[in-house]
Parts: sequence; C-alpha cells; structure tokens
Amino acid sequence: MKLTIACLIACCSSSALGFVVQQPSSPALAASSTALFDSRRRQKLAARSKWIDNRGISGGTPTAEGSSKTGLMKNSDGLEYIKLVHPDTGATSEVYLLGGVVTSYVDGDGTEFIAVRPDAKMDGSKPISGGLSHCWPQFGPGAIQQHGFARNVNWSVKDMSDTSCVLELAPSEYTKEMWDKEFLCTFSVALEEDQLSTKMLVENKGVEALDFQAALHSYFTVSALDKLEIAGSFAGKDFLNKLVGDEGEMQTEEREVITITEEYDRVYKGVNDPILKDAGTGKSLSVLNNAGWEDTVLWNPFGNEGMGYNNFVCVESVKFDPVSLDGGSSWTGDMALKPGSL
Ligand SMILES: *[C@@H]1O[C@H](CO)[C@@H](O)[C@H](O)[C@H]1NC(C)=O
Repeated sequence: MKLTIACLIACCSSSALGFVVQQPSSPALAASSTALFDSRRRQKLAARSKWIDNRGISGGTPTAEGSSKTGLMKNSDGLEYIKLVHPDTGATSEVYLLGGVVTSYVDGDGTEFIAVRPDAKMDGSKPISGGLSHCWPQFGPGAIQQHGFARNVNWSVKDMSDTSCVLELAPSEYTKEMWDKEFLCTFSVALEEDQLSTKMLVENKGVEALDFQAALHSYFTVSALDKLEIAGSFAGKDFLNKLVGDEGEMQTEEREVITITEEYDRVYKGVNDPILKDAGTGKSLSVLNNAGWEDTVLWNPFGNEGMGYNNFVCVESVKFDPVSLDGGSSWTGDMALKPGSL
C-alpha cells in the first residue's frame, strides 16, 4: 500500500513535469533555460541559508550541522531530530523524536510555515509546545491526561531518507499504565516538491476493540494576527466555542473568512479545508486534510505575550468523534501542507 502511494506520487509528479516542461527547440535556448533554472535555484538556496542563519541567531532550532545535511541530528540540548532537505527545491523540514513532532517546514523560497512557541522547552523536560504536535489517544481533558501521551514519549525511527521519515509509537510500560491497549501508531512525513505530506496510521494489533480521538495540534507561523485570514468552508457551520461558560456553547459561524481578534478555542466540526493567508508574507498555506481528519480546531491565546500569541495560530486537524477500531483494523489521518501565494 505504502509503496503504491509512493509510486503514484513519484509517477504523477514526473509525468506532470514532463508535460509542463517542453523540450527546448535549439541548443542555445536549452542552455539559457538551464542557466535560468540554475540561477533561480541558487537564489532559493541563498534565501534559505540566510533564513537558517537568522533563525540560528534568534535562538530557534539549532542547525549547527549545516543547512544541507540530512538525517538524525541533535539540538544543543541533546534532543534528537531528523532533518529533511529536498534536493531540487531546497525546502527543509525537521521532525523531533520526542512527541514525533514536525517543528519546521521551510519552502524553497525560505518561508517557515510551522511555529514553535518562544516558551517551548526543547530539552525534553516537557512536551514541545509547537509544531504539528500529536494529541493521541485523547484530544482534550478526559480519562487520561490532557492531549494524551503520544507527545510525551520518544517515537522510534523505522525508516528515513533525505526527504522522508517514518516514526513509530508502540505500547510501553509508561503508556500501558494509562491505556492498556495493543496499538501501533506510524507517523510518516515526506518533503515533496510542492508540499509537506504527513500520514498518521493507527493500527489495533489486539483482539478487543479500542476507541481513540486524534489531532495534529498544528502551530503555524503568522507575521502578525492582524495580517492573517483563515479561509475555508466555515460559513454557516456550527462550532463549539469552548471559552463561553463552563462547558462551552454551540454557536454558528457567519463569516466566510476568520480573523482572530480575541482568545480562540473553537471546535468546527465538519470543516477540514482551512487555508491560512498571511498578508505580511504574501503567502498562503492550504491544510489539505485528505483522509481521516474531519474537523478543525482554532486556538490562540490572544494577549499572552509569553506564548508569543501574535506570531502563531493553531489550526488543528482533528478527529473529534472517537474512532472505534476493531481488533486488526486501522485508521489513517492524511494531511498535507501546501504553500501558495496570495
Ligand atoms: C527521549 O530521548 C532523549 C534523547 O534524545 C532522552 O534524553 C530523553 O530522556 C527521552 N525522553 C523520554 C520521555 O523517554
């Protein structure tokens, strides 16, 4: 199945390229278009290195190993992460083993789309506050701890290449104490030419059924909240506004486009096509929930300077109604991030 999908993607993208890029009719034309391509690529690489240098100085994810190296690395506090680099576009991504969380996705132009909060601990003393963090097997508060345990533990590396990695989470003594089920989670991340693809596979390896909720509690960078619009099929949808009363209140969204001017914690059930539009960067980011992720949660701690509220928004890919998996069956959440221009 995995191979088929990989092949499908590879085949599609190469045939698409073959279709669009026409064979130059003269050698001179061929040389000039190659030169143009090379210079565009050099510009992109330069922009990316500059971005990485800036980020290093401002104390973000350390990249002391060099910007083009890939594979398993350690940050300055000894936490392990995998660095992916796309050989053609220069796009990069970073995935921490603690929590199996994608903490960075930089496109070929050098734009970072994923946020890590300034108050995040990157030394393993607590889950990483930021990135595409997992809430599993429980979304909010409930029988086990808030957001579940997947973000607290080190995932293991099952497979890795320059542009992709596959992480696994299996039961341990720690997880069994909270939730004694025979599960296997596999989280795959692939840096493709024009998007970052993720896949969360949950398998019930046991005989008894198990129930879970799941979310990617995704933090995205924002140049400033007043520059941000979130488009999608929000208008006319009911949502749970968790910040009203003790239990929250069901309300109806009337806007076509969401802007954030107050604290947000809203569950939009049945909305899974959000697009972030940042007038500050001139970029858009489509959150393509291709399978499994049915709902969107919008979260922002408006006014909280310590959390850096004005430079991120959480637009979460969620499966809010519990999934019930019979023994031997599986569930897949497929989400891709696709940058574009405004
Ligand atoms: C996760 O792995 C790191 C090493 O990368 C280690 O220092 C840390 O203690 C581990 N954390 C847990 C919760 O097992």
